[in-house]
Amino acid sequence: MRSISEYRQEFLKYLDEKIEVKEPRNLYEPMRYILQLGGKRLRPVLVLMATEIFDADYRKALDAALAIEIFHNFSLVHDDIMDDAPIRRGKKTVHEKWDINTGILSGDAMLINAYQLFENYEEKVFKELAQLFTKTAMEVCEGQQYDMDFEAREDVQIEDYLKMIEYKTAVLVGASLQMGAIVAETPRECKDAIYQYGRLLGIAFQLQDDYLDAFGDPEAFGKQVGGDIIENKKTFLYLKALEASGEREARQLQHLYSISPIENSGKIEAVKAIFESSGAAELTRAEIKKYTKKAFAVLNEIDLQEDKKEPLRKFGETLMERQV
Ligand code: IPE
Ligand code: IPE
Ligand code: MG
Ligand code: MG
Ligand code: MG
Repeated sequence: MRSISEYRQEFLKYLDEKIEVKEPRNLYEPMRYILQLGGKRLRPVLVLMATEIFDADYRKALDAALAIEIFHNFSLVHDDIMDDAPIRRGKKTVHEKWDINTGILSGDAMLINAYQLFENYEEKVFKELAQLFTKTAMEVCEGQQYDMDFEAREDVQIEDYLKMIEYKTAVLVGASLQMGAIVAETPRECKDAIYQYGRLLGIAFQLQDDYLDAFGDPEAFGKQVGGDIIENKKTFLYLKALEASGEREARQLQHLYSISPIENSGKIEAVKAIFESSGAAELTRAEIKKYTKKAFAVLNEIDLQEDKKEPLRKFGETLMERQV
């Protein structure tokens, strides 16, 4: 087993070899731009780690890892259009640097490119990878649609939110780990168990993404802090704040979430103050811990040697502490 940073380095080397800019440049340059912009590379690292945990050579999984990272970046390019986001990883988003049409098409090409990479596997593994990928990608679309629908809805419940983040984010984390297990041709129970670990960790991960979107350090975070508030995203912070506030504060919060972006001045600070005073910020931190613990409980039950589980646990712990 290698360390997390070694897997990341190996992945980056592979990525750099494989991503080339061809003609037409306006299709391929945005792909290279977003893929080389950095990012934590969590999902490909999970693919490689899982492969070795289940006793296969991580190099066999490099194409699957690349497919997952390209898919993730495709989803970000389109997500930034949908969320009207100006900044990603501290730099201009693709649709800001080029334009919306370029973002749509280079995003599409990335999605196709991700599929293409599975063709490098022999039939049985190919089929399993492609099936998992298709199912997961469709769920991500469903999650993204709920996310947008919720912006305009006033009746969103915590359980709706949890389902939405499971689909838009957590299933891809589960699928990353399961892809490693597929490449390693692990028994079904292990494939399912490792998926569940990733899914629960993914829920904690998106809860924290939402938390950092409001309370992150603008320098470190790399995205527009307060972006979710501007877009009236029905996050755990918002839903818990409504639940935990008195009537007057709740009405004020609902009013703030009905103000259009042009009248933004002061909206972010006012909403954040309610997130704090209502106790929602603290409840969100507790929920992140809760889901990370649930993930660890699943991990404990997996039929694997203790020393194989340790890097996965470490990975979960570092996620909980992240500021980016
Ligand atoms: C951002 O994912 C999108 C979410 C699902 C929250 P990451 O936080 O993994 O983004 P990068 O790849 O590290 O930039
Ligand atoms: C994005 O969720 C999930 C997907 C891209 C599928 P967010 O909209 O919260 O991600 P960020 O905050 O823009 O990275
Ligand atoms: Mg977004
Ligand atoms: Mg979004
Ligand atoms: Mg976010």
